[in-house]
Amino acid sequence: MSDIDTHLSGTAFPHSEAPLGDVILETRDLTKHYGGVHALEGANFTLRRGEHVAIMGDNGAGKSTFVRQITGVEQRTRGDIIFDGKPIHFENPMDARNAGIETVFQTLALADQLDVPDNLFLGRELVKFRFGPFSILDYKAMRQRTLDALEKTGVKIPNIRGTIERMSGGQRQCVAIARTATFHSKLTIMDEPTAALGVQETAQVESIIRTLKEAGEPLILISHNMRQVMDLCDRIVVFRRGRICANLLKEETDGQDVVAYITGAKTQPEYADAA
Ligand SMILES: Nc1ncnc2c1ncn2[C@@H]1O[C@H](COP(=O)(O)OP(=O)(O)O)[C@@H](O)[C@H]1O
Ligand SMILES: [Mg+2]
Repeated sequence: MSDIDTHLSGTAFPHSEAPLGDVILETRDLTKHYGGVHALEGANFTLRRGEHVAIMGDNGAGKSTFVRQITGVEQRTRGDIIFDGKPIHFENPMDARNAGIETVFQTLALADQLDVPDNLFLGRELVKFRFGPFSILDYKAMRQRTLDALEKTGVKIPNIRGTIERMSGGQRQCVAIARTATFHSKLTIMDEPTAALGVQETAQVESIIRTLKEAGEPLILISHNMRQVMDLCDRIVVFRRGRICANLLKEETDGQDVVAYITGAKTQPEYADAA
């Protein structure tokens, strides 16, 4: 757990962004049907190490469904997911987390009855010592790490010992995102992380995303916010009616162009069967 400091200080890449590496995540023909609803159909998607990709699309386009298949929240109808060089079949979100995928879901996955440190360390508590099947947790260390993490990510929570249920939506979302930025993960996925946040909280989240970029950690960001996407991401993948309909490098597109793909006014030739 001693990786927290090095990760957040960003000393490895102090001034420039890390170069893109090899492929960290690939989906082939990823498909999810809910009965007769074809929520996700034949998604071929690739993400490289260090790359920040935005997923955009209208409500109901299949963005969250795509994320749920990758993170083990649901089981896919068909298709392959290759993560970090290996085909994966996560049975639940904890499996995905243990494999190095941190996710901030659209609906928050925080434990309401627990305080901030408990939420940050949920499933990976620091242990003081172990004696056979028994272990004593290091609460003091977890509290200190929590304070460090919040300070470094600029998240302000007046009392970290208060339970999550007493916090505002913005504070809760910030805790979820501080958690993501605190642990070295191989991949971070955020599903509309700022949709319910105010201006200041949104800025905090965006600053955390930049920290991930500087550290060379890949990100999938689902967002409706064009300015945010253009500011933070290298590439935009557009979903429409369950299918990918465009794959756009940021330098080769603009807001108007992206909207044309979202609404169906345009489709890239290689995704023509999405129309
Ligand atoms: N559990 C479910 N059962 C049935 N249909 C679902 C379920 N979850 C999502 N859908 C449907 O799948 C489609 C894609 O939904 P979703 O992935 O949530 O879209 P997005 O995140 O892009 O707004 C929608 O038509 C939605 O109604
Ligand atoms: Mg969604």
